[in-house]
Amino acid sequence: MQEEMKRLLLTISFTGCWLFGLAQSQDMKSFIDNLMSKMTTEEKIGQLNLLPGGDITTGAVMNSPLAKLATEGRLGAVLNVVGLDKIRPLQEAAVKRSRLGIPLLFGQDVIHGYQTVFPIPLAQSCSWNLKAIEEGAQIAAKEATSQGINWAYSPMVDIALDPRWGRIAEGNGEDPYLNGCIAAAMVRGLQGNYGRENVMACVKHFALYGASEAGRDYNTVDMSRQRMFNQYFSGYKAAIDAGAGSVMSSFNVVDGVPATANRWLLNDVLRKRWQFDGFLVTDYGAIREMMAHGVGDAQTVTIKALQAGTDMDMCSSLFSEHLAEALKQGHVTMADIDRACRRVLEAKYKLGLFANPYRFCDTKRAKRELYTPEHRLAARNMATETFVLLKNEGELLPLAKQGKIALIGPLADTRNNVVGCWSTADAPEKYATLKEGMQRAVNGKAEILYAQGCNIYDDADIQAAGTFNRAITRVDKQQACDEALRIAREADVIVCAMGELAEMSGECASRANLCLPDAQMELLQALVALNKPLVLLNFSGRPTIMKWESEHIPAIMNVWFGGSELADAIPDVVFGDKVPTGKLTVTMPKALGQVPIYYNHLPTGRPVAEGTNHFVKYSSNYIDVRNEPLYPFGYGFSYTTYAYGDIMLSGKEMTKDGRLTATVMVTNTGKREGDEVVQLYIHDKVASLSRPVKELKGFQRVHLAAGESKKVTFDITPDMLKFYDYNLEEVLEPGEFDLMIGPNSREVKTTSFIVK
Ligand code: BGC
Repeated sequence: MQEEMKRLLLTISFTGCWLFGLAQSQDMKSFIDNLMSKMTTEEKIGQLNLLPGGDITTGAVMNSPLAKLATEGRLGAVLNVVGLDKIRPLQEAAVKRSRLGIPLLFGQDVIHGYQTVFPIPLAQSCSWNLKAIEEGAQIAAKEATSQGINWAYSPMVDIALDPRWGRIAEGNGEDPYLNGCIAAAMVRGLQGNYGRENVMACVKHFALYGASEAGRDYNTVDMSRQRMFNQYFSGYKAAIDAGAGSVMSSFNVVDGVPATANRWLLNDVLRKRWQFDGFLVTDYGAIREMMAHGVGDAQTVTIKALQAGTDMDMCSSLFSEHLAEALKQGHVTMADIDRACRRVLEAKYKLGLFANPYRFCDTKRAKRELYTPEHRLAARNMATETFVLLKNEGELLPLAKQGKIALIGPLADTRNNVVGCWSTADAPEKYATLKEGMQRAVNGKAEILYAQGCNIYDDADIQAAGTFNRAITRVDKQQACDEALRIAREADVIVCAMGELAEMSGECASRANLCLPDAQMELLQALVALNKPLVLLNFSGRPTIMKWESEHIPAIMNVWFGGSELADAIPDVVFGDKVPTGKLTVTMPKALGQVPIYYNHLPTGRPVAEGTNHFVKYSSNYIDVRNEPLYPFGYGFSYTTYAYGDIMLSGKEMTKDGRLTATVMVTNTGKREGDEVVQLYIHDKVASLSRPVKELKGFQRVHLAAGESKKVTFDITPDMLKFYDYNLEEVLEPGEFDLMIGPNSREVKTTSFIVK
């Protein structure tokens, strides 16, 4: 009864805020002041404790160690619990049984969908479709909140230039500007206005996690501050400017100090400079890992993390084990603990959990909102926009729905190995395989012959490492190959579904070789030797190296990992019901030795002119491979073609606070309607720091009917011309700028203007 009264009073005071239209921040402050005045030190530290809930079983929740901690007020949040049947009782333990009834946060890696799985983020970025990305995030939040989740560890906005790093799959490609646009879209989609279908976003991993040396996960990071600001920080900042409620720090060191304890990063940059006022959680076990980094014992790293600005400890349990003692000994102050506790409580307040702790525990919604036809359609449409057509000789694609089509490869008939690396709540039994999708699409008009053809790798141990817990059938090499060749000979056209398994990218999935794995390459070469029309669908979570393929295969489409609906989305494009529109957001190298390779690099003092096809002594190049990538940033074909006119500029000069407009005529010169992503690049020719040869500063997706022309106009604003100088001040330095517009970063029209 007393509990009910307490809840009622809290609810009334909250509802009252809305009724009287008082400023929410003031109400939040007094509400939390009041609550904190009642909290013991132990309860405050309890709020900073985030623990995993993955192994709780339905029915046994109330007797679990987690429920005990929640009851004792020693738990602030839980992660990775799937299902309301577990989340609701845990919330009840916190709300009904603990002394103050403070609700829990329930976090999860809702990265590219929930049960309806969208393509991996890298793939989504290749759509350049911010609206669709935002809607996808909205759907993910809607599904996740229907299952009790109120906090998503997304967006991941780490720029990565090294495709060996498996987590490149989780980011938005190599470009700072596009990354910023996507980061903001994701926050809007996930978080909205903290409605009941929204989660709190958590921007990660702050910072620079994508710059792990040698592409090896969790490895050292080291870079200049001007590079951080100019190239790596945009995504985090854009997400924070869009109002992200929480930030996750990264595992790596920044300037030699683990990010988890880096005051400059967490306090000077994040809090002071960017005015971030949400709460900061560590990555999984990162406080404890600081001991392995060699920066102190358990108590020291605990103190360092709190003092640097960490608010919540993800799964180290070191805040709960050591903070009280550190306080007693005077190593941290009550103010440090209060500050962190307040921020966590504020998050709960913003999510409306004090008003209704069961806001996200609606059993009716739980039954109704998962994997709905609308959600599936959105995921399917999104997937069709992410595929990048890299080559299409003789217009081999789209295929006609006729004759015999041999579908070959270890990715053609698997459900859960192609969905994507962060599908933590997927239901593979509901999804179709590509083979099933192809059969459905041809609907008896063509015959689909199928053979797995080969293993992923010849070496079973390497294959097992890349499958993680999503096993795939191993086949007898000779038998499988014979069967594949047999059906290929019989067929009119061969479609190969080859590449990586989803678990070969993502966390702790670095690769030191980026070519098609041996077993698959051998089969592919045998199939090519048959001299039949052959389409390669390359599954990957990163840019892979396809030099041989590009020289021997007429049609190549990169399909990444397309989520739960890829089985229908791939046929949509392969058979031409939709045209491909995706464009690369990562550079594809032709040799591993070129890595890191990215379009927006700085000029060197000894450049080699673009297009040079031989080695130039004493210039910046290789003896054995030319500098150009296989496929540049922004690249991708369609089933139609586009022509670009010259750039028309509204003037040749602009003032530092002025603006210009740049217009270009784009014509669909092919036979199909389609969407073209028109890209605008800028180059600051002379500045106090060396500036990139080209930087994306704008893009527009335009729809053009066959034969149609449209004028595409960009505003050139001072913001596009700014950069962070040596002192990390954002400046616009007068001088000459090149302005480029084109279908990708390589083929651009160029003009220039002066800023006075
Ligand atoms: C990953 C994070 C993730 C967290 C919780 C960590 O290992 O680095 O991206 O959010 O686990 O699952």
